[in-house]
Amino acid sequence: MIRNDIKALTAYHVADSGGLIKLDAMENPFTLPDALQKSWAEQLAQVDINRYPDADMLALRKKIATQAGVETGQVLLGNGSDEIIQMLLLATNPGTCVVPAPTFVMYDLISHWLKRPVATVPLGKDFSLNAEMLLQVCAREKAGIVFLACPNNPTGNLWPEEAIRQIASNFNGLLIIDEAYGPFSERTHTHLIAENVMVLRTFSKLGWAGLRLGYLIGDAESISHLNKVRMPYNVNALTQASASFLLDHFAVFEQQAAEIRAERERVTAAFAEVEGIQVFPSQANFILIRVADAEVVFDGLKAAGILVKNMNGVGGLLAECLRITIGTKDENDAVLTAIREMMV
Ligand SMILES: Cc1ncc(COP(=O)(O)O)c(C=O)c1O
Repeated sequence: MIRNDIKALTAYHVADSGGLIKLDAMENPFTLPDALQKSWAEQLAQVDINRYPDADMLALRKKIATQAGVETGQVLLGNGSDEIIQMLLLATNPGTCVVPAPTFVMYDLISHWLKRPVATVPLGKDFSLNAEMLLQVCAREKAGIVFLACPNNPTGNLWPEEAIRQIASNFNGLLIIDEAYGPFSERTHTHLIAENVMVLRTFSKLGWAGLRLGYLIGDAESISHLNKVRMPYNVNALTQASASFLLDHFAVFEQQAAEIRAERERVTAAFAEVEGIQVFPSQANFILIRVADAEVVFDGLKAAGILVKNMNGVGGLLAECLRITIGTKDENDAVLTAIREMMV
């Protein structure tokens, strides 16, 4: 009954983080300030959960569009940006999906669910992207869609805007610029939006991972067609109410993102001082490091009560690499202390 290729897949694994400092999933470590928490709870208490949510989410889309500086009709909302990736792969012409390697795994995974071929373009040793090579792969594979995570996950770097422009203007399929980590890079690409270029964003990394809300910005006509493959009521009523409320207090999250960026710089500089660690520059809310033996360091951190993401299993450019989410200052200090002790 179940397709053989689905049977052969490994389910998306989420590590058990019970009792550990959780630095494996690029979450914002800060909770809501007390006063905000209280008024948010009051807002939620007013939601009629016996009713289906607002299906069109016009008011919420308008708020998000205003913040992004685009028209309401250019915004599509999803249950996390993962769901939007699925909508894109469902609704676009069935050409190959081209992605850099390594990058965010869901582009490849969802393509496989939907039986779309995937071709990868290897990044350089410094995780640089060769736009020319990507365009050659697109032409050779008759690509229909390209995903570029800007900054990239799990490498943390942000490719030059020139490379993205080159791809945008020479690729005639759909280019998705995924800005999941945009709040930490402070570079956006909305000015590149065109018939074949869309920008994908999420609130997950900014502090609302539990709400599951992502959005796509594109030209209004394509967005209206993509809306046809959106599940009715895909964004639940509590998420809609929360997002609408929290968007009115957005400065809180911008301030938290600024703190995370400052911590990222501090932690990067501190890692650079530790012998035996290669640290890669990051424009995201996580840092990739390479060590002599990632398994040993991963286990050592876990023994010290810290959960990070071990990328070693992926191999290739990610051999002996760990991806560490930036946490609070105390959490980051705990990582640095544990790593320094392991490296002596
Ligand atoms: C590049 C990138 N895009 C999208 C996502 C998915 O985010 P969401 O929580 O909105 O589904 C992630 C999550 O890690 C990511 O790294």
